[in-house]
Amino acid sequence: MQIARTIAEMRAALREMRTPQRSVGFVPTMGALHDGHRSLLRAAREHCDVVAASIFINPTQFGPNEDFSKYPRTFDADCSMLVDERVDILFAPAPEEMYPEGAKTVVHVAEVSSRLDGASRPGHFDGVATVVAKLFHIVQPELAFFGQKDAAQVAVLRRMVRDLNLAVELVVCPTVREADGLAMSSRNRYLSAEERRQARVLSRALREAEALAKAGESQSEKLIGAMQRIFAAEPAVKIDYLEVVNADTLLPLEDIRAGALVAVAAYVGATRLIDNLVMSG
Ligand code: PAJ
Repeated sequence: MQIARTIAEMRAALREMRTPQRSVGFVPTMGALHDGHRSLLRAAREHCDVVAASIFINPTQFGPNEDFSKYPRTFDADCSMLVDERVDILFAPAPEEMYPEGAKTVVHVAEVSSRLDGASRPGHFDGVATVVAKLFHIVQPELAFFGQKDAAQVAVLRRMVRDLNLAVELVVCPTVREADGLAMSSRNRYLSAEERRQARVLSRALREAEALAKAGESQSEKLIGAMQRIFAAEPAVKIDYLEVVNADTLLPLEDIRAGALVAVAAYVGATRLIDNLVMSG
């Protein structure tokens, strides 16, 4: 696997690999890779001839009181996974390479960026959209792979790709979970043993909503009420948001029959976790 540290190196390496017949698939990450990331790498390997990944802990998507400085950095282990999954090239730039002195341009996807995680984390999706737009320009992939786990991120990036006419197709891969249902996340490693147990409440609540929907319940209010009762059994876990929304606009839906995203964010101790479920309608 080649490793490019600068934009010039990345562009030069991709120029060598790309031909009109060979498609480039791209998996952007912040490292601390787990089996959720692995599923994206595998999908990219399956669909594309050249697989590029990036590891960049993007400072602009972290708020001032968030975990940027303590975000897990496991570069060597990450590289082993990337090699195992036959990634051709890794882009791992320093922050100064991505944001040199004087950088002023921000990609702001209006409205959708201020919903769900965007409401709790002001400016977060400006950071995400800006860095992903930059990465797309550097890598110029035909396909880019993202996880359903970050459903609001998917909504923001889909809107950005449409609005800016970017020549990339987004492929959204299902959420990979631990055996007990907890969605895999780089932040799960912050959890103590007790918090790890408490964290199961997120997926448990979503499964309850799914069961009710299968049994015919279609009112969002009822599903939310049932999920709140599941959360009440784990009082140490504090709900940040619990919503039933349209998966594209992230606006609340009263009824799930047309298809809906049931999304939750909650604090388990100091760690903020998210999870969601798409209702087929
Ligand atoms: P990161 O949190 O490292 O996630 C990288 C990709 O892995 C995202 O598309 C995310 O949705 C996906 N992913 C994470 N956990 C997953 C799981 N359990 N199952 C399936 N996919 C999962 O998301 C980011 O980084 C950043 O915001 C980034 C897009 C790289 C921009 O900085």
